[in-house]
Amino acid sequence: MATSIKTVLITGASQGLGFDMARGFLAAGSSVVISGRDPEKLARAAQQLGGGDRVAVVAGDIGDAATGRAMVATALARFGSVDVLINNAGIFQPKPFLDVEEKDLERFWRTNLLGTFFTSQAVVPAMKQQGGGAIINIGTVLIDHAAKAFPVTAPMTSKGAIHGLTPNLAAELADDNIRVNTIAAGIIRTPLHDPSQVDQLAGLHLLNRIGEPNDITEAALFLAQNNFVTGVILPVDGGNVAGR
Ligand SMILES: NC(=O)c1ccc[n+]([C@@H]2O[C@H](COP(=O)([O-])OP(=O)(O)OC[C@H]3O[C@@H](n4cnc5c(N)ncnc54)[C@H](OP(=O)(O)O)[C@@H]3O)[C@@H](O)[C@H]2O)c1
Repeated sequence: MATSIKTVLITGASQGLGFDMARGFLAAGSSVVISGRDPEKLARAAQQLGGGDRVAVVAGDIGDAATGRAMVATALARFGSVDVLINNAGIFQPKPFLDVEEKDLERFWRTNLLGTFFTSQAVVPAMKQQGGGAIINIGTVLIDHAAKAFPVTAPMTSKGAIHGLTPNLAAELADDNIRVNTIAAGIIRTPLHDPSQVDQLAGLHLLNRIGEPNDITEAALFLAQNNFVTGVILPVDGGNVAGR
């Protein structure tokens, strides 16, 4: 590792990408604070990760600002620092535009956008105090490369806002040595997708396969370590945005 990363906060890490990123950062020697809504699922994930004392859990809805604050308090109490935040918790569900109701929009905004916004607000004071840090958001290629097969205007209003805030927050926090980047993920094999059908989406990517969670973990490790990358939307998408 170019830089030693002591403590990493990962939202929505009881399964899928968040779980794999927790695995990856533990393997790199970091301690992790992981979150999710379901306390039992989270406890099982913590056990499966096998990091012992280097894993702490905080159960709660990430759309509630108190959850992010609790993650920061736990990180400081258990590990003494807040070095990296990964705003990973997110929900996704296709629905035709004319069927979208206000409650659908509110659900996407609360989890995807407010969760990212509030949790970032929670970590910044601690990062400022310790002289820097990194915030990594998880976005999607669908912002820059829509597909007729996915009627996803509703979730994209929240993910697009995350892409939009990335360079602006990077500018606002640059003097505090806090870097802000977003990974625009392609289709990745996680419980979000039907396992019997997800490989049929391989053709959306130039590399003609879907992504594996470790593809995203490796990008997160890079963005956490590299001290000269900020304000970037990094596609990790097998060439989905590049062409067809
Ligand atoms: N997989 C893909 O192809 C893909 C592509 C592009 C972007 N992404 C993004 O990558 C991120 C992770 O996706 P994934 O595929 O790993 O999804 P996933 O398998 O469904 O996992 C989502 C995780 O987030 C947690 N979560 C959901 N809502 C939450 C809330 N309100 N508060 C706290 N935790 C919450 C879930 O635990 P609980 O249910 O217990 O809360 C779970 O641990 C998401 O932001 C997603 O939009 C995924």
